[in-house]
Amino acid sequence: MSAPDRERRAVNQVAVAFGVSALASLGLAAVYWQGGQNQVEGVLLAIALGGLGYGFVVVARRLLPQGPYTEERDVLPSSEGQVAAFETDLERGEGWLARRGFLLKMLGVAAGALGVAALFPLRSLGPNPGNSLRRTKWRRGSLVVDEQGEPVRVRTLEVGGVLTVFPEGHLEREDSQTLLIRISDENVVTRKGREDWAPEGYVAYSKVCTHAGCPVGLYQQDVKRLLCPCHQSSFDAVEGARPMFGPATRSLPQLPLMVDDNGLLRAQDDYDEPIGPGFWDRGR
Ligand code: FES
Repeated sequence: MSAPDRERRAVNQVAVAFGVSALASLGLAAVYWQGGQNQVEGVLLAIALGGLGYGFVVVARRLLPQGPYTEERDVLPSSEGQVAAFETDLERGEGWLARRGFLLKMLGVAAGALGVAALFPLRSLGPNPGNSLRRTKWRRGSLVVDEQGEPVRVRTLEVGGVLTVFPEGHLEREDSQTLLIRISDENVVTRKGREDWAPEGYVAYSKVCTHAGCPVGLYQQDVKRLLCPCHQSSFDAVEGARPMFGPATRSLPQLPLMVDDNGLLRAQDDYDEPIGPGFWDRGR
């Protein structure tokens, strides 16, 4: 096979490789859009990347000049033979140079298709959570109710008693589940700035552990500590649920409470910070 034929053949191979890569990328995007299938996506991605790689190898090995080159530092000017050899070399390269634009376009198509396919996984990020990670269903004036929906009164718990409570009308909301503990029969201050958050000795903390989100379900009355059974984090109920032991590093958020004119417990507002484990843009 003559040199021009070999070159033409190499150009065609590169074009086909880039074209196959582009088709595989578009196929990958289509499969993903239809709901995805891991094995098919893997094969198509391999073909897309393999096509690009094969094309680059053929360009490097069959179309670009191959070395090593040595050049004699002869007396100038060149001999007739050298001039003739140079012209032959130049003519050999003309075909590749002329088709280089075409191959660059094919490369653009293949890379562009792969780029489009790479955009589709953005859909997997799901809906924007918005403010939902920062707010629960507790609002100013929410009535505190037990798991049966019964309102909690000041006299409901004895000192040392504990109850899981929710805001009225939202018994199904896990993010709003709250541990209500009566640690005294007098007003309690768990921290500076929380002077009126615990009337009649009632403190309320989020039940969602700040380590990995398990329900903090145990209360040790003798030491006034809350315990998470998953990894044994414990929190001081008297000091704003400050972590005392275990992997949790943040306090359980405290719900500010008040007692209305009928002796019913109500929330003053939502928790003062997001409940549960930290997340990427929590901020503090
Ligand atoms: S989830 Fe509570 S300690 Fe790990």
